[in-house]
Amino acid sequence: MSTQTGNGLGRVTIPSILKKKSRGEKIVMLTAYDYQTARILDDSAVDIILVGDSLGNVIMGYENTIPVTVEESLHYTKAVARAVKRLPVITDMPFLSYQVSHDEALQNAGKFLKEGGAIGVKVEGASPFRIETIKRLVDAGIPVMGHLGLTPQSVYKLGGFRTQARKPFAAVDVVRKSVELEAAGVFSIVLENIPSEVAKEATAAVEIATIGIGAGPDCDGQVLVINDILGFSGDFIPPFVKRYAEMGEVIKDAVSRFSDDVRSVAFPAEEHTTKMSDENREKFYEILSKEKKR
Ligand code: KIV
Repeated sequence: MSTQTGNGLGRVTIPSILKKKSRGEKIVMLTAYDYQTARILDDSAVDIILVGDSLGNVIMGYENTIPVTVEESLHYTKAVARAVKRLPVITDMPFLSYQVSHDEALQNAGKFLKEGGAIGVKVEGASPFRIETIKRLVDAGIPVMGHLGLTPQSVYKLGGFRTQARKPFAAVDVVRKSVELEAAGVFSIVLENIPSEVAKEATAAVEIATIGIGAGPDCDGQVLVINDILGFSGDFIPPFVKRYAEMGEVIKDAVSRFSDDVRSVAFPAEEHTTKMSDENREKFYEILSKEKKR
């Protein structure tokens, strides 16, 4: 049962996300990296906030997610978690924060929950080592989201941000790995940039929720990077992104009108300006004129 919050929307929990799949209700996930955006999402019809390591590209201007550190992710996770009363916050574990050892993975995941205020973490891949890591995290009570298909932290190995699992054996591998991730205890799997047939079969093969990005309509939910849907990202727009606003244009227009107002002294107007009381003004000019005569 969901607890109602001030905005009338229910609190979303891991069990309530799992229930959505059994009821055939789609799951909506968006990224957020800052307090104000997270506040808006918490008051909207979204189900999960992901503090994606896409923050490397969209917030920090890195070329990809590889340079993102635990400290950077923690910083943005804290800002998001401070704003949120209703939604689960999941943080992407940065590159090399979970690949070195299971113990280190546990320590770092723990930081996102204990210090960051996230309720779970996302990790990429499903190698035997990763499966063992996931089991350790889940055993410690940490909800884990998996990530298959195009795994951006392997961008150099993959040779770019290309669609994955186009060929039959690679496609079967995604379905098989989805089942392995489920057995390891993940509550959900992001399926990124794979053919829709593959995502459909992976979704049918597991009881946990699949959340697609560039993986067609048959996943249990969809995720996009918030800057992409708002039209507030770079010139490159992945083909699977749909823009719902052109915030870049909105910002440019607002900044241009502000600049015009400053230059024409239309801003600040009377209503943006503080004045002294008549009594204080009189006294002020009196003291000032005495000062000037000295
Ligand atoms: O880093 C990210 O934002 C992600 C999503 C796009 C799934 O991993």
